[in-house]
Amino acid sequence: MANLPPSSTRTIPGTSDIPRHIAIIMDGNGRWAKQRFMPRVAGHQRGVEALREVVKACRQMGVEYLTVFAFSSENWRRPAEEVSFLMSLFLKMLEREVTKLHKNDIRLKVIGERSRFDETLRQTMQDAEQLTANNTGMTLTIAANYGGRWDVMRAVKLMLRDHPELAQDFGEEDLQPYLSMSDAPEPDLFIRTGGEQRISNFMLWQLAYTELYFTGTLWPAFDRNEFDKAIAWYRQRERRFGQTSEQLAGKTAAKQESKGTMDG
Ligand code: IPE
Ligand code: IPE
Ligand code: MG
Repeated sequence: MANLPPSSTRTIPGTSDIPRHIAIIMDGNGRWAKQRFMPRVAGHQRGVEALREVVKACRQMGVEYLTVFAFSSENWRRPAEEVSFLMSLFLKMLEREVTKLHKNDIRLKVIGERSRFDETLRQTMQDAEQLTANNTGMTLTIAANYGGRWDVMRAVKLMLRDHPELAQDFGEEDLQPYLSMSDAPEPDLFIRTGGEQRISNFMLWQLAYTELYFTGTLWPAFDRNEFDKAIAWYRQRERRFGQTSEQLAGKTAAKQESKGTMDG
């Protein structure tokens, strides 16, 4: 519990040019396929390739956490054939990619409600997590049957199960350990491809102070160049966390001054 990352609403997190945590809504697969007169599922297939590229870019850049939205708790509302295609694609991807992730020192995690997945998929998820559990190069988290509201509700339930006395009153610090992403810092950068400017029930709690980047580029077309554009945009942001620009400028000056005395 002592090692929990800081909360943006309780302390001011440190920032740097390289986002420690990037969260992505990979949207626009269906439209990408439709534009090419292909079935929607062909877009999902190409989407896996885009993900592979982004994982590689993040690993190279030194991003510590990459979290991607693969299937929302509301995506069950889609036609049954598309849902079952997505499930088999997910399974194939896990089976095919996990050795490569492992070789690259990447830890794989899955967040979301697993009970609705079939036994084979659940077992494959668990095996992939187990195999890569001790890797430290980067954590890739796949959100599957995940919803931001589900996450917060579940955390409250688990917290109260362990600590019934907290029903009277509790704080953020009591709840935080029970959230799905409790071991990761809050995302610095959020990317949504596909042109929609909404959160679609992704990490509602954790996005409190995240920089939000929206691009019209459809996910299968999101390549290294598009990724670099998002990073360049991120670097231009002034992350104030409620403070004023003047306060931030003061801090930067103080930092440079102390660096000057140390060097001199
Ligand atoms: C995102 O692409 C992938 C999933 C939601 C699984 P979409 O399938 O939502 O593609 P569009 O938004 O219909 O183009
Ligand atoms: C969000 O995309 C979920 C994923 C990318 C997995 P959707 O395409 O489902 O979102 P809405 O329905 O347009 O909000
Ligand atoms: Mg969509």
